[in-house]
Amino acid sequence: MCGIFSYYGKKKNAPEIVIEGLKRLEYRGYDSWGIAYKQDSEIHVHKETGKISEFKVETADFKDSEVSIGEVKEKFTLSIGHSRWATHGRVNKTNSHPHFTEDKDIVLVHNGIFENYSEVKAYLKKKGHKFITETDTEVIAHLIEEHLKTHDFLEAVKMAIKEMEGRFAFVVISKNSNKMVAARKGSPLIIGVKGKEYFIASDIPAFLPHTNKIYYLDDNQLCSIENGEIEFFDMDSFDPIEKRIVEIELDIESAEKGEFPHFMIKEIMEQKDTLNRAINQNEDQILKVADAINKAYGTYVVGCGTAGKVGMVGEFLFSKIAKKHINFSFGSEFTSHKPFLTNKTLMIAISQSGETADTLEAIEAAKEKGVKIVSIVNVESSTMARMSDIVLPIKAGPEKAVASTKATTSQIAIMTLLAYACAGKLYEGKQLLINTASQINDMLNPRYEEHIMGIAKRIQDVESMYIIGRDVNYPIALESAIKLQEVSYIHAEGFAAGELKHGPIALISENTPVIALVSNDEYKKEILSNAMEVKSRGGYIIGVAPENEDVFDFWIRVPDTGNTSPLVNIIPVQILAYQLAVLRKNDPDKPRNLAKSVTVK
Ligand code: AGP
Repeated sequence: MCGIFSYYGKKKNAPEIVIEGLKRLEYRGYDSWGIAYKQDSEIHVHKETGKISEFKVETADFKDSEVSIGEVKEKFTLSIGHSRWATHGRVNKTNSHPHFTEDKDIVLVHNGIFENYSEVKAYLKKKGHKFITETDTEVIAHLIEEHLKTHDFLEAVKMAIKEMEGRFAFVVISKNSNKMVAARKGSPLIIGVKGKEYFIASDIPAFLPHTNKIYYLDDNQLCSIENGEIEFFDMDSFDPIEKRIVEIELDIESAEKGEFPHFMIKEIMEQKDTLNRAINQNEDQILKVADAINKAYGTYVVGCGTAGKVGMVGEFLFSKIAKKHINFSFGSEFTSHKPFLTNKTLMIAISQSGETADTLEAIEAAKEKGVKIVSIVNVESSTMARMSDIVLPIKAGPEKAVASTKATTSQIAIMTLLAYACAGKLYEGKQLLINTASQINDMLNPRYEEHIMGIAKRIQDVESMYIIGRDVNYPIALESAIKLQEVSYIHAEGFAAGELKHGPIALISENTPVIALVSNDEYKKEILSNAMEVKSRGGYIIGVAPENEDVFDFWIRVPDTGNTSPLVNIIPVQILAYQLAVLRKNDPDKPRNLAKSVTVK
């Protein structure tokens, strides 16, 4: 949620470097964007609303801007940038970052929420500070300025941080200092380094074209860069910290679209490979986690949105395969479980980004009670991974489309492995998953896409659609609904098939599309009856199933894979959601109102 990219170094085209970096972070927020850079002891700011990917430096019109983005003629250039997902204040240029004090003494970009900003703002107003935006970020700039009256720039930042509550990351520059200061408390910030050049970003792929050498800024740490040298400090004690450079292996290509028109379809197609990478987990780690689950007095699985639905799938898988009860909770609802936590409880946190604020908060609450944390996470440098006792990396590679696809199936695969391992049948589970991955490989071909396109064209103008599933495919019905909502903007809802007759069936009218996830299991008969009940009321049944059934108006074939049916059932719905988005002229990678990682509560 919101992307930060900043550059400190000798390159004269620093603003351009920052704009290009922000383009690679746009999936984190695309309501508006802005940059600032230092030139002739002044800080120049440029802001725009809309998507930065559509902005071309060469043809840009800077008529109403105070800057022209060209060469910066300083010994070291300092430039900061931000792409915004609005939290405090409407989407407009004024509320876009960077934010600054009246004469741009202090200019900063910020991600996260400064929770006690209104009290601090009231205090600063009394001191004579004047504010031009409704944002919490502008208050940070003024708070630092207030401390500048009695401290130097770095000290003033440190003093300001002491007064800030909430999760945040920011990068700040000052007119009267050559320092660039960055701070991290709960929101990601990683520093790329190339000799005496530094790239500070919310995510690694943003600076990969420049360097693969990084410093991890941990939570509650800040850094200061001046004259090409960097120093790190602890946020509480302000003691200096020694850090070493880490070389990472991510390649640029995996973070680019390549020949695909959108990241979403590229990532759907990558599932051929990503699943195999997920299955190929360190067996000792899987067995260690399975042992911890078997010994724990209560296991909680926590996640949000799609990752939450994977947690729900896990509940069913553990009951089915390991005859074991595990509890699922959305991150945002976890506090109600706090009374039941002890140091014998185990938490499994599921997340693509590893930065979701609601899940992080659940982890914090659990850690307070001595709960051991296992995370199933894609971004291995994330806050979540660093807070966990054991990390099971899903190894899906960068997932850029806002709608999660490849990370979802990889997470489901790992939950399946764990359930089998808990039942003492890891090898059997692994073999089943390997076979499933190979069947998915066969499924993902252009003919399959074309077939699904037939149904997408048939239903592209509907107002509402529903998805039904039973048992382990009930959460997949919920996940299907999320996928369709996110990118097609069609009103879509998932139901436990048996629940339809208790109310939702009243929503069915002539030609309402209903996707029925029909696996070859003990619930097949019941779900087919439920589909028939819908059809009798005029519903149009799209069956996702290994076999064609009389009740289906349209059949999407999936392989019969037994306990891995959630994996094969979600994929055609991902494709359908993508195609509906394209047909309805929506941007599937950057759907309205959303952001890739949700770092606010
Ligand atoms: C998935 O398509 C959504 N974009 C969203 O629900 C997402 O899964 C949720 O915000 C959790 O994100 P995380 O996996 O990064 O924690």
